[in-house]
Amino acid sequence: MQSPRGTKDIFPLQSKAWRETEQKMADAARSFGYGEIRIPIFEHTGVFARAIGEETDIVGKEMYTFVDRGGDSMTLRPEFTAGVIRAAAQHSILGQSPLHRFWYCGPLFRYERPQKGRFRQFHQFGAECIGADSPESDAEIILLARQCLIAAGINGFRLQINTLGNSESRAAYRARLSDFLQSVAERLSDESRRRMERNPLRVLDSKDERDREALVNAPSLTDFLDLESKVHFELVLKILDSQGIPYEIHSRLVRGLDYYSHTVFEFIGDSLGSQDALGGGGRYNNMFEYFGAKSAPAVGFSLGMERIMLTLEQQSPVLYSPERPDVSLIALGEESVNTVWKYADVLRAEGLSVITDVLGRSMKSLMKEADKFSIPVVLIVGENELAAGTVILRDMRNGGQRECPSNKIVAAIREIIG
Ligand code: HAM
Repeated sequence: MQSPRGTKDIFPLQSKAWRETEQKMADAARSFGYGEIRIPIFEHTGVFARAIGEETDIVGKEMYTFVDRGGDSMTLRPEFTAGVIRAAAQHSILGQSPLHRFWYCGPLFRYERPQKGRFRQFHQFGAECIGADSPESDAEIILLARQCLIAAGINGFRLQINTLGNSESRAAYRARLSDFLQSVAERLSDESRRRMERNPLRVLDSKDERDREALVNAPSLTDFLDLESKVHFELVLKILDSQGIPYEIHSRLVRGLDYYSHTVFEFIGDSLGSQDALGGGGRYNNMFEYFGAKSAPAVGFSLGMERIMLTLEQQSPVLYSPERPDVSLIALGEESVNTVWKYADVLRAEGLSVITDVLGRSMKSLMKEADKFSIPVVLIVGENELAAGTVILRDMRNGGQRECPSNKIVAAIREIIG
């Protein structure tokens, strides 16, 4: 049996790097006043279908949907945002206070064609700022996303930003774009011809060379923005400028989910290849209504953990150094075993990582193991030490060895490992 296509097994060497990286990003989120939200891994299918949009690739062809034993249609979450807003609406949190700042981290599921940086089970770290529609909240989210990448240790990424304007601006543009696409339809790729009908804006960010050529003279959304939309975007950019945050305005950035209006952005990793978006996000002001709640604005971002870890594997190999125990405890003879286990208990309570032998191996092979895995200290208890209430401590880095009273073990080990 093999794992399903597009999934990954993560062993301790990698999981340690993942955990440390997630912690750094959680610390960054906390430093911006965000608290963690945990939501179900599956939701009623309607949560995603309505919020993300029936016409998107995610809803149209990528969701893991099943009928549960009670006959309800359920879907493994393909993203967090819809579930977070479902939770916010269900618990009427905006009735308690006007603004909520959440971060989240966990697995997601999309039936996509797997390739480097693209999986069917993947993970995101992200945040949502719920209740504000100010340019300041857009800027805060962008600053936090950027801070998470910096805290994780990512070098070499670019911020691309665009505005989709409000829904009136977008509707006017959509109509004009559809006309334009009809006029160049025979030059478009099959995929874009299909998209043209359902979701014309998505044709804009096609990477296909044929599409790019056909789209050279496409109308620009910028020309359709009304004053409100323009002012909002300018204010976001002004804050980024004042904070010295570099960005590129990318007028064809539309993102793959239908819920956005106004600001959208992506962080592009320089060393990722074709799946180069480290993360993305934007403003969405109409999602609460999908869940039968009073309308409320929100803005957020999500970063792809696999792409972050892929980048760190290249940029930060030290993150992937193995986690080694501090002490290997060796019992020489049956009688010492219980005492060694008691010492292990004491050392673990002191926060040290210690191992005892569970394979009945000889002293020689245990010493070899300690050497191989760079365990800095070996503690040995034989008949003599048992009688004297002492242990032998061996400093594996210089081979030095000494006897130590059992009530001084912790201090002596700390002295060795520094
Ligand atoms: P998204 O662009 O669909 O946005 O996903 C965000 C990031 O998740 C991507 O840039 C990428 O790094 C990662 N990602 C997406 N799909 C995969 C995959 N199949 N395999 C590996 N990584 C993947 C959202 O999900 C929105 N919820 C972001 C957002 C939050 N907007 C507002 N708030």
